[in-house]
Amino acid sequence: MTYQTYLFIFLSVHLSCLGCLESTIIPFQVQSDIDKLKIDFNSSNSDVADGGPIFTEKLKSWTEVNERRILFSHIISLYLKMFESIDTSKAHIRNVHEYLLAKKSNLANDYKKINDIMELAKLPTSDLKIQRKAINELSPLLQKLDSPTGRSERRRRQNPRGCKC
Ligand SMILES: *[C@@H]1O[C@H](CO)[C@@H](O)[C@H](O)[C@H]1NC(C)=O
Repeated sequence: MTYQTYLFIFLSVHLSCLGCLESTIIPFQVQSDIDKLKIDFNSSNSDVADGGPIFTEKLKSWTEVNERRILFSHIISLYLKMFESIDTSKAHIRNVHEYLLAKKSNLANDYKKINDIMELAKLPTSDLKIQRKAINELSPLLQKLDSPTGRSERRRRQNPRGCKC
């Protein structure tokens, strides 16, 4: 598959769902710009469905609003990365790009959490110094695991303010 094919799969399947994030509707202008982008990328062609969607399946296991914000912050950063290699001289493409940039900045704190995970993924676990630190932190970590932010989690569940996700 070409890069363009990947890109229009991304766009067609998921861009229309970014508005779900805060239970808002995508602004009309942005929706119409996305529709133009879909035409640019032939994303109504049937082959777009081949192999299934990229993100939707994953979203299913991210049910809490705050969880979803973390995943969305990563997904949006992927879109922005794709836009780096798209010609943004056309107004509708530039508008969608700007909309995504705004979403990304709304999710800045969530994106920091993604960075935490990425940094941890790079941790040299065979390094003895790291191993000593890790063993030292093991007990407090396990204690936090069993009663982390339990109270605020419960409060949020009882009072899911305005979430229609
Ligand atoms: C979309 O389809 C047109 C006509 O078949 C083709 O010329 C163009 O390269 C296609 N664009 C993409 C991004 O696949």
